[in-house]
This record gives sequence, structure tokens and C-alpha cells, in this order.
Amino acid sequence: MPKAPPVDRAGTSAPAPGKSSKLPYLVALLLAAVVTVLVFMLMGNIAQHKREAEQVVFKIADVDETTTDPEEWGKNFPRQYDGYKRTVDTERTRWGGSESYQHVDEDPDWRTLFAGYAFSFDYREDRGHAYMLNDQRETERVHKVKQPGACLHCHASDIPAYRKAGIENGAPGELTDPFNSADAREQLQKGFEVVCAIPYEEATKLVEHPVSCMDCHDPETMHLRVTRPGFLNGIRVLAESDEPVPHLQSIERWRKGDRKEPYEPNTMATRQEMRSFACGQCHVEYYFKGEGKLLTYPWHNGLKMEQLEKYYDDEGFKDWTHKTAGSPMLKAQHPEFEMWSQGIHARAGVSCADCHMPYKREGAIKVSDHHIRSPLLNTARACQVCHNVTEDEIKDRAETIQDRTRALMVRAQKATLDLIGVIVEAREAGATDEQLAPLQQFHRKAEWRLDYIAAENSMGFHADQEAARILGEAIDYARQGQVQAVQLLGTLESQTNQNQVSLN
Ligand code: HEC
Ligand code: HEC
Ligand code: HEC
Ligand code: HEC
Ligand code: HEC
Repeated sequence: MPKAPPVDRAGTSAPAPGKSSKLPYLVALLLAAVVTVLVFMLMGNIAQHKREAEQVVFKIADVDETTTDPEEWGKNFPRQYDGYKRTVDTERTRWGGSESYQHVDEDPDWRTLFAGYAFSFDYREDRGHAYMLNDQRETERVHKVKQPGACLHCHASDIPAYRKAGIENGAPGELTDPFNSADAREQLQKGFEVVCAIPYEEATKLVEHPVSCMDCHDPETMHLRVTRPGFLNGIRVLAESDEPVPHLQSIERWRKGDRKEPYEPNTMATRQEMRSFACGQCHVEYYFKGEGKLLTYPWHNGLKMEQLEKYYDDEGFKDWTHKTAGSPMLKAQHPEFEMWSQGIHARAGVSCADCHMPYKREGAIKVSDHHIRSPLLNTARACQVCHNVTEDEIKDRAETIQDRTRALMVRAQKATLDLIGVIVEAREAGATDEQLAPLQQFHRKAEWRLDYIAAENSMGFHADQEAARILGEAIDYARQGQVQAVQLLGTLESQTNQNQVSLN
């Protein structure tokens, strides 16, 4: 049988050996060159399209450092604005969502836990960003109680209001100075101090809109930024502490440097860090410091629950005195940034925006979903991009964490109520302030821990083991206090009996 001639890839017969054997190589070389050129041209084309897609959709409206109205920005960025507007939607999830039901009606135990404090009569489930200014203006907590302007910090697009107040009180420069300029920062800090101290009813007249585009974006470049003075001050103090923050590498880097300039997130943080800092501006524990009611984030010792507590203890601070137990109490407020910081996702570099503002495709364009809400309403985009399991499975994993946290929380709640009950008994049995003080300290510690997890809005999800640890401590402190209170009651009773005996 004659041997078939060798066949090349294109199926054509190769020329007989010996004849001009270099020709095919030359042809191949030429072809390769042509293909390479074409590939490069195509890549250039794609990159250009990408740039186009990323670009400002054509600046229709001019926005600057005074534009708080999101509708104006929406003219340039309609997709993000559409998402933002949808934060009016209301949908409940098992432990969260955006239906603003009344917590103290759903579980009246919280009226007892908050006795003597504004939260005992109005404490609702959080809802979308579009509502934040109205909800603050309408809550009984500002109507029945005198509140300071400091409340405004996280409920409005208030940067121009701060800067204006700063200029009126002697800070240099113009309202339109770039945000990162020294003058603008002086205006901001000065005005922030002024507005914190005035009554809430006056402060709220200075603003028109809830959180808006300019609070997270530079109007010139659209780069992410943080603008809240409370956060800028807080993160600087945190950087200056010794507490390791392995999930915030830019702070660790700053600490190793010469520290000539203070830590400044807007110029030093990574983009991924900014995707969490933007939210950490408001979703944090806070208090109003001193007579000036200066809004302060208690991060001087670190971001962990007991480090915040130590700061308050050292400051001799209490939010209120418990009405029936007389204990000096702390109220925890939405420590999402602090709890996220203790969790596996932060450690793995997953930001708030990854879950709460996942990318979505609109035609050729990838946009960040500005409909900020519970990720459990959106697991396909919020979770499944990283977790290769079914939608039901990932939701079930999250809810398993939440159900377990809840079970422990119910026990911590019961234990704290028991402690309150027995302290009240001891008071009624005539215990002295000195005898009560250690019990009231147990109460302060237990309820701070319980409330820390209750006020944190993920029902344990952001840092599941940390949530369990904190609730474990809450139960322990409450029961320790209860044991001591029962002993005290025994002593008091035998004293009364003796007194009665001696009276007879
Ligand atoms: C790995 C994903 C993930 C990351 C990262 C994450 N969250 Fe969450 N977050 C969740 C889940 C899941 C819930 C629970 C939602 C529910 O119960 O409906 C939640 C709940 C919340 C809620 C309450 C939502 C509601 O429906 O009431 C807020 C507020 C929140 N997170 C803020 C933050 C902030 C701020 C950060 C960053 C500091 C952050 N989250 C980081 C997944 C995440
Ligand atoms: C450091 C930022 C910050 C400050 C300061 C702040 N809030 Fe809020 N507030 C939030 C965040 C974040 C939420 C949503 C999470 C939640 O409800 O736990 C919220 C939710 C609320 C809600 C809706 C849910 C509820 O609790 O009923 C009201 C009303 C409210 N705040 C009123 C106030 C008042 C009054 C003050 C001043 C005493 C104040 N806020 C100060 C950040 C802040
Ligand atoms: C200017 C302060 C501020 C900033 C910045 C901010 N939030 Fe909020 N957020 C609030 C307040 C206040 C509420 C509660 C509004 C209400 O209940 O009326 C809230 C509510 C929420 C809710 C509950 C929504 C729902 O449907 O139940 C989520 C989730 C949330 N924020 C996540 C984020 C994330 C993620 C970021 C960062 C991308 C962020 N927030 C940035 C103040 C802020
Ligand atoms: C609470 C903070 C916050 C607010 C308020 C906010 N954004 Fe964003 N925005 C983000 C984050 C986070 C990203 C993701 C940026 C990144 O990863 O670099 C983003 C991204 C963008 C981008 C870049 C393209 C994209 O979708 O990723 C545009 C454009 C944008 N936002 C427009 C707006 C407009 C318009 C508004 C007001 C209607 C607004 N944003 C309000 C946090 C915010
Ligand atoms: C950007 C990627 C990313 C996103 C988005 C993300 N995760 Fe994760 N998730 C991770 C990584 C990474 C880990 C840690 C895995 C490891 O290192 O072992 C993790 C761990 C977990 C764990 C195990 C927690 C534990 O304590 O061990 C659960 C449960 C989980 N994710 C659920 C979710 C849910 C629910 C969502 C959406 C709301 C989500 N994740 C979104 C990357 C992501």
C-alpha cells in the first residue's frame, strides 16, 4: 500500500520533502504576524469600549461640593440613581429586611430592658436609605426627648451644611473648595462641632435630603470618598491605637511609616477598604461626648466590643440610668462596621459593598447596585458570585447562623431580665447604694453585650463566632450578678428577721 502523504492542519498535502521546504514556515510566520496584529487591534477596541462604558455618561448636569440633591447627579448617572430610588421598597426577611415594625411591641421585654430611656417607647426595624431623614424627624425619640444636632450626622446629606456653619464661625475658604483641601477640612470640623451642639429641631432645618451621592463620591472624579467628620476622626484614632487590624492593611502600613501625617482614608485606603469605609461612616457604635454633644466613635482602644466598653468605662460614661434597677447603662447602636471587622468575610477581604451593592449588568455596562438592602433578598448576585452552591443552600447557611444567634440571644435576654428582677427586689428590701453598685455593674455589662448583638443588624451573620462569644459573656455576667443578688437578698432578709426579733 502506498503511504499517504503527511497532512497538515489545514488538511492540505504537505509538499514533497526536498522541494522548497521553508515555504510553509514562512507562510505560517506571516499568518501568525497578521493574526497577532488583528488580536491587538481587537483588544484595543475592547479596551476602548470598556473605557466608554466606565465613563461618565456625558455630563448633562454640573454637580459640585454643594449638590446634595441626588436627582441632579441622577441626570449624569441614571442607572445608579434608579437603584438609589428603589431603597423605598419594603420587604421583610426572617430576621431583617425593611418593614419598619415596632421592636418594643413585637417583644415587650425590651420595654423593661430599656426602662427610663427613649428606646423603650419607639424602636423600629431599620429600612431603606430613602427614609432616613423622615424617620429621624418623626421618631418619638426626638419628640418626647430633647435631642442634639449631633443626631443629624448619619441621617442626611449634610456636608455643605457643616461647611457653611464652619465658614460662618470663622473657618477660612469657600464652600466650593475641594473636599480634601485644608480649608475645606477646617470648615467641616468647625461646622460639625457647631451643629452637634445646637438642638435637633434647628439642625434638621439645615438639610433637605437623606444620604446622597456626594456623601460617598467626589463630584469631579466620582471616586469613592468618605466625608463624615465622625468617621474621619474615629478611624484616625483607631489607626493611632496599638490594636491589630489585619483586615485594614492601609492602617497597618501607615503604622509602620513615619506617622508624620495623620492617617487619612481618602488618600491612603485601598479601593477595597473604601468599599467598606463608605458604610462605616454611619453603621457604627457612637456616643455624644461632653457638653458640646460632639459625636464620637469610641475606637480609641480598638474595634472589639470590650474595647469600646473600656473606653466608656474610662470616660465614666453612661447613656442613662435604668429606671427600676438604677444601673448606669450603655446603649449599643448598630455596630455593623465593628462586627464585620471581627468576621471571616472582612478577614478574607470581602467588603460591605460586595454583599450589599453587588454588580449587576445593564447591557454592556456593569453597575454597582445602589438599591442597598438585605443581601438575602438578592443572594444570586450578593453571594453566589463567590459561593458555588445553590440559592437555597446559601440562604439556608446564612439563616442557620442567624437562628443559632437568635436562640442564644433569647437566653441572654431572659438572664438579663432575671438580673433586673432580683436587683429590684434587693432595692425594695432596703439594700444600700454600696451593696447595689456591684450588681448594677453586672447589669451594665450584661445588657451592653445583649444589646450589642440585638442592635447589630445582621443577627450574627457579619461575625457569627464573635456574636456567640459576646452573648455567652452576657449570660455569664447576668447569672453572676443574679447569684450575688440572691446572696445579698438572703443577708437582707436575715437582717430584717433579726430586726423584727429584736423589736418583739
Ligand atoms: C458577606 C456578605 C456581607 C458583608 C460583607 C456585609 N454584610 Fe451586612 N448583611 C449581610 C447579611 C446576610 C445580612 C442579614 C440580612 C437579613 O437578615 O435579611 C446583613 C445585614 C445587614 C444590615 C441589616 C439589613 C436589614 O435587612 O435590616 C445592615 C445595616 C448591614 N448588613 C450593613 C453592613 C455593613 C455596614 C457592612 C460592612 C461594614 C456589611 N453589612 C457587610 C451580609 C453582608
Ligand atoms: C453614627 C451615625 C448615627 C447617628 C449619630 C444617629 N443615627 Fe440613627 N441610625 C443610624 C443607622 C446606621 C441606622 C440604621 C440601623 C439601625 O436602625 O439600627 C439608624 C436608625 C435610626 C432610626 C430608625 C430605626 C429606629 O431605631 O427606630 C431612627 C428613628 C434614628 N436612627 C434616630 C436617630 C436619633 C434620634 C439620633 C440622635 C440621638 C440618631 N439616630 C443618631 C445611624 C446614626
Ligand atoms: C449617612 C449615613 C449612612 C451611610 C453612609 C450608609 N448608611 Fe445605611 N443606613 C443609614 C440609616 C440612617 C439607615 C436607616 C434608615 C431608616 O430606617 O429610616 C440605614 C439603613 C441601611 C440598611 C437597611 C436597609 C433595609 O432595607 O432594611 C442597609 C442594608 C444599609 N443601610 C447598608 C448600608 C451600606 C452597605 C452602606 C455603604 C455602601 C451604607 N448603608 C451607608 C445610614 C447610612
Ligand atoms: C453610601 C455610599 C454611596 C452613595 C450614597 C452612592 N454611592 Fe455610588 N457607589 C458606591 C460604591 C461603594 C460604589 C462602588 C465603587 C467602587 O467599587 O469603586 C459606587 C459606584 C458608583 C459609580 C461607578 C460605577 C458603578 O456603578 O460601579 C457611579 C457612577 C455611582 N456610584 C453613582 C452614584 C450616584 C449617582 C449616587 C446618588 C444617586 C450614588 N452613587 C450614591 C457608594 C455610594
Ligand atoms: C467576594 C466574595 C464573597 C461574597 C460576595 C460572599 N462570600 Fe461568604 N465567604 C467568602 C470567603 C472567602 C469565605 C471564607 C472561606 C474561607 O476562607 O474558609 C466565606 C465564608 C462564608 C461562610 C462561612 C462562615 C463561617 O463563619 O465559617 C458563610 C456561611 C458565607 N460565607 C455565606 C455568605 C453569604 C450568605 C453571602 C451573601 C450574603 C456571602 N457569603 C457572600 C467569600 C464571599
